[in-house]
Amino acid sequence: MARWLHLVGRFFDVVFAYPLDDDERRRVSELLRPGPEFEAFMAQPVADQRHGLEAAETVAAAAPDRLDLQRAALLHDVGKRHSGLGVVGRVLATVAAGLGGPWTRRQRRYQDHGALGAAELEAWGAEPIVVAYARHHHGTRPDEVAPGDWALLERADRARIPRRRRVRASSR
Ligand SMILES: [Fe+2]
Ligand SMILES: [Fe+2]
Repeated sequence: MARWLHLVGRFFDVVFAYPLDDDERRRVSELLRPGPEFEAFMAQPVADQRHGLEAAETVAAAAPDRLDLQRAALLHDVGKRHSGLGVVGRVLATVAAGLGGPWTRRQRRYQDHGALGAAELEAWGAEPIVVAYARHHHGTRPDEVAPGDWALLERADRARIPRRRRVRASSR
């Protein structure tokens, strides 16, 4: 039940997503290396950019010196962009996954976004914890991620977009 409530909340985060402003883009560029990392992040749909940044800021608030964890949070869903699915397509992909799917190639890519993103990040030379979290974030903790780091990253992945920012978005 909690999982479905979370998914409903995430659905509204996606629906109300709004572009990063200049300060937020600067923040992203400080954490990511120029080139493929930054370009892939910015090639994501706005909702995924916002989710990644919210996750990174959640980590930064708890562990300001752990840039590796902030980068892991920022980049963990970067593989989702390969699915090309919009809001409705993502809902259907989630339903399909719960009913024995995926049913389409796009749904398969959406379901495999962790592995897809991890392979890219590894090829681009990202540090092991960034690659490991992208690969495993919908599964169980791998040995290379310490339990405390894993707990923080999981909490960051569940972070909702604050209403204050949504209100600001609705006026744009
Ligand atoms: Fe994910
Ligand atoms: Fe995520």
